[in-house]
Amino acid sequence: MRFIHVILFSVALLLSYIPNSTSVNNDFCVADLSLPKTSLGYQCKSEKDVTVDDFVFSGFVPGNATKNFNTGITFVNVDKLPGLNGLGISTVRADIGVNGSVPLHSHPDATEIIIIVEGELNVGFITPTKVFLKDAKPGDVIAVPKGQLHFLVNTGAKKAVAFAAFSSSDPSVQTLDLLLFGNDLSTDVLSKTTLLDVGQIQKLKAVFGGKN
Ligand SMILES: *[C@@H]1O[C@H](CO)[C@@H](O)[C@H](O)[C@H]1NC(C)=O
Ligand SMILES: *[C@@H]1O[C@H](CO)[C@@H](O)[C@H](O)[C@H]1NC(C)=O
Repeated sequence: MRFIHVILFSVALLLSYIPNSTSVNNDFCVADLSLPKTSLGYQCKSEKDVTVDDFVFSGFVPGNATKNFNTGITFVNVDKLPGLNGLGISTVRADIGVNGSVPLHSHPDATEIIIIVEGELNVGFITPTKVFLKDAKPGDVIAVPKGQLHFLVNTGAKKAVAFAAFSSSDPSVQTLDLLLFGNDLSTDVLSKTTLLDVGQIQKLKAVFGGKN
């Protein structure tokens, strides 16, 4: 094949994986969850098979509270709501018990907008030069720029509820405690690279499932 043919072939191959390119309707590309997810999302479900149910998720209720953080998370991404495929949006709700929190985490590929619905929350994100912190109450809407390490802490006497939306239909979530203490990175390396005490690391590894 001549070089130009190789290029055209490659582009055609790429386009065949991009949501929308295989659908007759170019306004949306409902995920075909029976096919593998690619880095560009799911392939489109055939338009004749798309129903209103592909655009509705009916379980946006409080999640069961986790033991460690006393927070229930209900996350609705493209895997739960196939109509979101390729649309660059998804949502989550957090039901945060008394003294509970949403632990430090980031979304490398999505900006988040948090809507405080109930209770009192200390919401913040951390940058190399500054910590941005807000004592938030119902009616507050808080933007968390893409990639920033952020958290929510219930500071009130009752449960708190926040909804949020992401600028991705499938945002990744990197939780600091899990990155540090939820895998087999050795306690020795962790101690040398963070200066945390060995005993503290072992305690947190036991909590988050880490080994070594
Ligand atoms: C919470 O846990 C109960 C018992 O395991 C389960 O039946 C229920 O579906 C869970 N709720 C949610 C929202 O996941
Ligand atoms: C929440 O934490 C405070 C101390 O920070 C404690 O006095 C209180 O009993 C805790 N409440 C619950 C319900 O765990």
